[in-house]
Amino acid sequence: MSVICVIGTGYVGLVTGTCLADLGNTVTCVDIVQEKIDRLNKGILPIYEPGLEEMVERNVEAGRLRFTTSYPDGLENSEFIFIAVNTPTGNNQGGADMRYVESAARSIAENLDHYAIVINKSTVPVGSGDVVSRVISNNLKSSNASFSVVSNPEFLREGAALLDFQNPDRIVLGSSEPEAAHKVARLYLQLRAPFVITDLYTAEMIKYASNAFLATKISFINEMAQICERLGADVKQVALGMGYDKRIGHAFLDAGLGYGGSCFPKDVRALAHMADEAGLHPQMLRAVMDINHDQRRLVVSKLTNMLGSLRGTTIGILGLAFKPNTDDMREAPAVDIIHWVTSQGATVRVYDPVATKTGREALERENVNLNDVAFCKTPYEVAENVDALIIVTDWNEFKSLNMQKIRGSMRRPILIDGRNVYEPSEMNRYGFIYRGMGRATTPAPSVLAAEDTTSQMPDEVNQDSLITS
Ligand code: UDX
Repeated sequence: MSVICVIGTGYVGLVTGTCLADLGNTVTCVDIVQEKIDRLNKGILPIYEPGLEEMVERNVEAGRLRFTTSYPDGLENSEFIFIAVNTPTGNNQGGADMRYVESAARSIAENLDHYAIVINKSTVPVGSGDVVSRVISNNLKSSNASFSVVSNPEFLREGAALLDFQNPDRIVLGSSEPEAAHKVARLYLQLRAPFVITDLYTAEMIKYASNAFLATKISFINEMAQICERLGADVKQVALGMGYDKRIGHAFLDAGLGYGGSCFPKDVRALAHMADEAGLHPQMLRAVMDINHDQRRLVVSKLTNMLGSLRGTTIGILGLAFKPNTDDMREAPAVDIIHWVTSQGATVRVYDPVATKTGREALERENVNLNDVAFCKTPYEVAENVDALIIVTDWNEFKSLNMQKIRGSMRRPILIDGRNVYEPSEMNRYGFIYRGMGRATTPAPSVLAAEDTTSQMPDEVNQDSLITS
């Protein structure tokens, strides 16, 4: 078993450090924020991730995991040093901000007094491994210090991170020193995953290309959803039918409000930026980002098409987090949607099973007037007297609601299902005016004269003819 130091106790650092301790290694997690370390030492985690709290507790008790703000303490005897600090979008048109990675590299250099392998887990622009190498070389203090750099991108999904760590599809390791990459591979041998051992640049690129491909799948199906809606097809069944083709697969073909979170938006932007900088014109990546942005707008235009002006209306919002099983609000569609509807004069009633606190903070950051937002304790409370209800996050809790009860307490029965959680026919039976994402509610308009089609599209139907209660 090995002695490991993990720099950064954010999402990736904390999950990686804790899981490596759980495999039997001795792990010290270092973070420069004293308050974060104090809280971790009391067992209070900075993030919500199912199962993580128990795993932290178990490994701290076993003496395999500890937290400190001291680099000398963290680096003592460490054979492997993971850099897992964040790389937010910088000011340079989408490029990643490397400030935290560089300062971690500098601190490692200043405190290292032996040979160690420095492993980059943060998602960094292609070529950053060289930057880390240079920063460390330029700042080494001890003559006994030496190091190798390995890139080891993470593929952890929030909400399923422990499972993803323990059952990876592959482990990617990149280095100009293959022996160093092979030593890191040994840390993961128990996980029985295939290894892709390559050079630094390629490993860094694998991470970006993987995330960009998944984001592309999502934007692709969202574009198909819009076409389905116009042509009278059902995108859920289209995706099902496509997914059985092994070359396509079922994953990441759920149409809806598009991707959010801490990775996809930032990484697609950063990759497009790198391509721009290299003198290329990444047309597909641009389209992926544009479609993703439009999906959020689409929900608001569905709403205004049905309600007319939003001024004076009350809109119910189910879900704040960017996806289920997390309280993460980064790039969450809910923030844009609430921002847009409140700026058009609506008030909102919102509920999320775990993201109330982070949701409130995110809305505040985006200058949403919190007087326009009522935070409710249940989905049923949200539905009281609202003019429309929007499902924004596909939490399991929202998949089995008593929809009759919900319908009964709404002022107007408009249900916009931003995640296609419910079946249109069932919701119609309950008396909802239901709009999903890419789920036709009228017959295919192919038989209609071209000039007549727009007036018969679901979203264009006259409000009076729809509002039945
Ligand atoms: C992602 C990658 O999956 C992970 O490998 C990487 O390391 C970090 O980024 P994460 O951001 O946690 O993980 O979320 P993920 O579960 O992949 O979903 C991303 C977004 O896409 C969510 O907003 C989700 O709602 C959306 N999504 C996903 C869809 O809209 N449709 C789908 O079919 C799948």
